[in-house]
Amino acid sequence: MSILITGGAGYIGSHTCVELLNDGREIIIADNFSNSKPKVLETIKELTGRSFRFYEADICDKSALERIFSENEITEVIHFAGYKAVAESVKFPLKYYHNNVCGSLVLLEVMNAFNCKNLVFSSSATVYGMPENVPVSEDSSLFTLNPYGQTKLMIENICRDLCDSDGDWSVTLLRYFNPVGAHESGRLGEDPNGIPNNLMPIILQAAKGKIPELNVFGNDYSTPDGTCIRDYIHVVDLAKGHIAALSAMKKGAEVYNLGTGKGYSVLEIIEAFKRTNSVELPYKIAPRRPGDAARCWSLPSKAERELGWKAELGIERMCADSWRFAELKMSDADS
Ligand code: NAD
Ligand code: UFG
Repeated sequence: MSILITGGAGYIGSHTCVELLNDGREIIIADNFSNSKPKVLETIKELTGRSFRFYEADICDKSALERIFSENEITEVIHFAGYKAVAESVKFPLKYYHNNVCGSLVLLEVMNAFNCKNLVFSSSATVYGMPENVPVSEDSSLFTLNPYGQTKLMIENICRDLCDSDGDWSVTLLRYFNPVGAHESGRLGEDPNGIPNNLMPIILQAAKGKIPELNVFGNDYSTPDGTCIRDYIHVVDLAKGHIAALSAMKKGAEVYNLGTGKGYSVLEIIEAFKRTNSVELPYKIAPRRPGDAARCWSLPSKAERELGWKAELGIERMCADSWRFAELKMSDADS
């Protein structure tokens, strides 16, 4: 009996695989390396001292998924595989709808056919759009601002319809806030193919001198220091949330915020990063980035109450672990 991890070579998936293996679970990873590298699989094995099956497969490829299900006894699926770059989704919406929505549909069809009806899905705080009130709870109103967000909401709705139609399905929809940080060994972290879009990977590049400076997108928002506030969560805490979700699965569709419940502004993150790592971080104030919400942080109490899960690692660990990973990775790349 195994858990299939789609997108398990990616940032959040790889950390979740480590936690699952350390927890004694059997896993199988399927990934097409569109945004990750094969080396991650070896690192997961070395960090855990455990082995697992891997399939280089695209979730849009039905016959590849059928092969995985026919060769293994899969009882649950954690579904990370998808594209996640907001700006790219605006430029190439069909690419995003195809990979994220069609890929998820194919996965659900194959799961149904093999009578595997337990799913944990990576949703996102993006489904809250520009929240009017913070913190956002699971029943805050939903609104999407871009094709990426649409794909997450569409998949959530598909899962809800499926659970309504067939009482044997259990689907846990996890809405992640802003994952940052890395494994404490410094050997796993966020290592996208191509140019990063999110704040922490760009901070790392600026601190390393790979780019001249960080652009702070807007300092005229209605927040105490004028910069946007987000709920940054350590990726290892997030990974542990998946184990809690698997353990608490019940019939029907359930949704949980996975966040810390605490917001930090962009300037506060910059200061925390400099202080924690004793490094310089050049930045300048730049115009607002279209589509950014001024404030977004979670009410995480439902996950604590029903999953028995709570984020434990603070902002210093997020900054220190991110930096350790960057130093190791970038020194590898230089050598
Ligand atoms: P990631 O890009 O690092 O990982 C995704 C993995 O899925 C990659 O290894 C990629 O190669 C793989 N993949 C993509 N399309 C595939 C396909 N068709 N078939 C097989 N493999 C495929 O991203 P991540 O940060 O680890 O995010 C994981 C999930 O969490 C995504 O669904 C993402 O939308 C969601 N999420 C991420 C964030 C974030 O800020 N990182 C926030 C909220 C939600
Ligand atoms: N920011 C900068 N400069 C940069 C990059 C980001 O100032 O170079 C700011 C943004 O304006 C924002 C904050 O840093 O205020 C965080 O930006 P990110 O791009 O890291 O994160 P977002 O909150 O915009 O979005 C991320 C993911 C989404 C996901 C959302 C909630 O990219 O996919 O978190 O989970 F939906």
